[in-house]
Amino acid sequence: MPTLAKAKSSNLSFAPSYLPVAVFAGGTSGIGQAMAEAFAQQMKGRARIVLLGRNAAAAEAILARLPKPTDDDGWAHEFVPCDATSMAGVRAVCAALRARLPYINFLVMTAGENCMTECWETPEGLDHHLSIRYYSRYMYVKELLPHLVVAKEKGMDAHVLSVQAGGLGLTIPTDDLGLDNARRSTIKMLRGVMLSFAAMKGIMRGGAYGDGLVTHFAAQHPELTFTYTNPGQVTTPMSVYFNLGWLLTPLAWLVTYVVMPLLQKPPEDSAQYMLYALFNSERGVFMRNQYGNLVSSHVCEAAHSTEFDGTAQKVGVRHGEPMKGYGGSDARVKLLIEHTERVLGAIP
Ligand SMILES: NC(=O)c1ccc[n+]([C@@H]2O[C@H](COP(=O)([O-])OP(=O)(O)OC[C@H]3O[C@@H](n4cnc5c(N)ncnc54)[C@H](OP(=O)(O)O)[C@@H]3O)[C@@H](O)[C@H]2O)c1
Repeated sequence: MPTLAKAKSSNLSFAPSYLPVAVFAGGTSGIGQAMAEAFAQQMKGRARIVLLGRNAAAAEAILARLPKPTDDDGWAHEFVPCDATSMAGVRAVCAALRARLPYINFLVMTAGENCMTECWETPEGLDHHLSIRYYSRYMYVKELLPHLVVAKEKGMDAHVLSVQAGGLGLTIPTDDLGLDNARRSTIKMLRGVMLSFAAMKGIMRGGAYGDGLVTHFAAQHPELTFTYTNPGQVTTPMSVYFNLGWLLTPLAWLVTYVVMPLLQKPPEDSAQYMLYALFNSERGVFMRNQYGNLVSSHVCEAAHSTEFDGTAQKVGVRHGEPMKGYGGSDARVKLLIEHTERVLGAIP
């Protein structure tokens, strides 16, 4: 396991000969913000940073502190407003980025929120939790892939990093993939009062589906790098208070003020571990833990194959090979991707 000092010194050795372009979806707060800041500081202005999120004021404050480009290349760091619960919005933002950016080296996805007491449907008919945690990330990758491919073809790094629940081996289920049944069974009168089973399902499944996301795109593009990490417990706005509903307020206080402080690390430290994961991977798919340690990795040589034979039903098996910390199987991923393409394809 890299110590913090080792991760930092390893990160400092990342000094590309090209101008890196990095997109941080969720870069307005917490781990994403800390990663963007550390990345920009280290590059001393020789990196083009794009922050995506909703909070313009937070983004402008972050961007104002970043080292600026040293030469007059005609570009600047930027914030692009993007609500990850709107797939039409995400698609439009990606199209604008494709038109504006020459290539993308790093796509870092950290957007998330932690409402454990409520779940609802977005205006596009998707589960709110799944929208932020899964569907939007799928859309970012799918829509920005051409620019990562361009970077690779130029001999540069091309890496997608998703920070959420990588390496935990959460099983990708095969039923109620959009959680429509789970939401219907929620007792609406008790919304906000106690933990919502459907909300918890949305949060957990968002993490599990992330396994399918990276392995699916890695199979299509074995020349690129896809990493899925779990940051562990980090002191960010998301973890300021664990709202378990007013019925469980004493437990929430215990968790928030006694248990969590023992486990949490500052976002600056987490950012160094996540950057370590970003800078230390070859092509393929990588599952890494909160310290950037490798849990497992896999390179699929069957380029552009979307046809899985369905024989590897056992969870944690990818293209016939066992994969530690992976909760998918070829057949389960196939079902998930068919579901995802169907629901996203129906959104104009
Ligand atoms: N912190 C932890 O202890 C912990 C533990 C396990 C996993 N994680 C995972 O790590 C990732 C990063 O978490 P964090 O602690 O850094 O969270 P955070 O500080 O709360 O930041 C969350 C980010 O998500 C963005 N976001 C939230 N809702 C959005 C929406 N509807 N549209 C667009 N952006 C949205 C926020 O931007 P705007 O407000 O600008 O929209 C913000 O930049 C998340 O996936 C989280 O699930 C965190």
